[in-house]
Amino acid sequence: MDNQNTLTNRQGHPITDNQNVRTVGDRGPTTLENYDFLEKISHFDRERVPDRVVHARGAGAHGYFEAYGKVGEEPIAKYTRAKLFQEAGKQTPVFVRFSTVVGGGHSPETLRDPRGFAVKFYTEDGNWDLVGNNLKIFFIRDPMKFPDMVHSFKPDPVNNLPDPERMMDFLSGTPEATHMVTFLFSPWGIPANYRQMQGSGVNTYKWVNQDGQAMLIKYHWEPLKQGIKNLLQREANQIQSGNYNHATQDLYEAIAQGDYPEWELCVQMMTDDEHPELDFDPLDPTKLWDPKQFPFLPVGKMVLNKNADNYFAEVEQVAFGTGVLVDGLDFSDDKLLQGRTFSYSDTQRHRVGTNYLQLPINAPKNHVATNQRDGQMEYKVDAGPNQNPHVNYEPSTLGGLQEAAQSGKEHAPHYDASLVRQKLARTNDFAQAGATYRAFDDVERGELVANLVDALSICKPHIQSKMVEYFTQADPDYGKRVKEGLENAKRTGQEHTSTAAADQAKKQLEHMGHTS
Ligand code: HEM
Repeated sequence: MDNQNTLTNRQGHPITDNQNVRTVGDRGPTTLENYDFLEKISHFDRERVPDRVVHARGAGAHGYFEAYGKVGEEPIAKYTRAKLFQEAGKQTPVFVRFSTVVGGGHSPETLRDPRGFAVKFYTEDGNWDLVGNNLKIFFIRDPMKFPDMVHSFKPDPVNNLPDPERMMDFLSGTPEATHMVTFLFSPWGIPANYRQMQGSGVNTYKWVNQDGQAMLIKYHWEPLKQGIKNLLQREANQIQSGNYNHATQDLYEAIAQGDYPEWELCVQMMTDDEHPELDFDPLDPTKLWDPKQFPFLPVGKMVLNKNADNYFAEVEQVAFGTGVLVDGLDFSDDKLLQGRTFSYSDTQRHRVGTNYLQLPINAPKNHVATNQRDGQMEYKVDAGPNQNPHVNYEPSTLGGLQEAAQSGKEHAPHYDASLVRQKLARTNDFAQAGATYRAFDDVERGELVANLVDALSICKPHIQSKMVEYFTQADPDYGKRVKEGLENAKRTGQEHTSTAAADQAKKQLEHMGHTS
């Protein structure tokens, strides 16, 4: 056993025969005391953990974030005391996971879908996760709607077939999604790969300075040397016909060849109030903040320069959450953000396990000392070096852990309102969708209309007309073109092959009396 390459089982016993199970004679039955075989096969049986309920298909890499030490031209300490941003040139290690949203773990990376862009910063003050997407806005503004939204986007629960009618049915009751739908069905809905796309925190956060004063913040990642590239539907179809993994492959190979992708982190800032002068609420994640009014201010750059050593240990088991902030960063009252913040660590305790934060990819790189103990798969005690091991509680006079000193003044917003279930007052669901439609070039508008017609052409007429009504409210030309496209599709009976397949399956079920 001197040779470190000798095959062993998990108990450290050398394996002398990895080819044959133990049997009674060469043709006889296998025996139940085959420890090496049972251990091998039972571990194999447990190799998969549950897929992420969304964003199951992903790729990841390590790298670093380098701070500029200022925000735009101003000293950053004026706005946030977060240590990772303060000094120009200061580097913080990061791990990034990119993903698609709806498909399972091996689904094609060419699908029309938002792309996840999640970054874990291992800072000296503990981890900060910035869990973003490529697009800068979202479908909904209330977390109550998220499970319904995801159900409607996922395959039909009866036959497991993707069905655009279910998605469009949900969206036709969700006018606030019109802006996101406008991006998603344009070429911006299929980034060419993970390197050549933007990222955005989408939700509104806060920065807090030494005096406890806060600003509202939106985060954006802008690709540097590699630029931005999106695909037309036919280009995506062509890639998909030969490769389900082109984005993972592109990222892995670029990094392996030393062609490291880079993004600049920019923020948009607003004072921390309701901004009655705007025609939208700054806490509404279905809205863009106009960059002319709220310029993109660079605060640092990120370089990805190392592939994961093991996909499962790192990319699959990494766990990001919007609650994972460091001192100087804070939540805003964005309801979607607050709903998300419960959801992430809740699902990770189920998906990865109670002690998911002890895994090397998730563990902070600064010291961790808690009084939380035990639970499935706990393998070490997160205790302080001088902590009395008998004291796993606080307060204590017997050598337990002590609370940290405040590093600055607490940010303490004041509330005076009734407890309600209510929408934001300024919903303004269509104006920005129209502005985005007009800002697209002719190719983008043409693709948008064609893709919408394709998805809507299999939908019932009342769903079609509701969606056309939303597009018309956004911009009359937008609504008119989708309407004409649908009329034309009806006349010519043209349907996209993928939707035709779903439709065919549906008709078959209807025939069998399963649906109304
Ligand atoms: C993943 C919930 C909105 C970006 C997830 C996961 C859940 C979830 C449960 C799986 C996490 C895991 O298994 O580790 C929600 C809820 C939302 C919401 C409840 C709204 C109420 C958003 C928004 C964004 C976003 C607005 C973009 C800003 C992501 C990303 C991942 C993810 C990037 C994958 C993280 C990874 O790579 O591990 N979300 N989400 N989500 N979500 Fe959300």
